[in-house]
Amino acid sequence: MALSTRFTELFGVRHPIALAPMGGSAGGALAAAVSRGGGFGMLGAGTGSAR
Ligand SMILES: Cc1cc2nc3c(=O)[nH]c(=O)nc-3n(C[C@H](O)[C@H](O)[C@H](O)COP(=O)(O)O)c2cc1C
Repeated sequence: MALSTRFTELFGVRHPIALAPMGGSAGGALAAAVSRGGGFGMLGAGTGSAR
């Protein structure tokens, strides 16, 4: 059962769930799993470099 909220409408996701971006802890596999499951997967970049 999907829960429609302003969050789900804004981001076009099925569930109002966001993966907290955690650089060095949560990588692409977890972000992809959350996204495939209907949530909003994010990648942390706090420890990354622009180059
Ligand atoms: C280990 C760790 C790494 C994090 N890395 C990032 C990051 O790279 N970028 C970022 O925007 N937030 C980062 N955060 C912040 C989280 O995404 C999140 O905003 C924070 O944990 C607060 O979550 P809450 O509002 O659910 O309590 C990190 C948090 C933790 C615990």
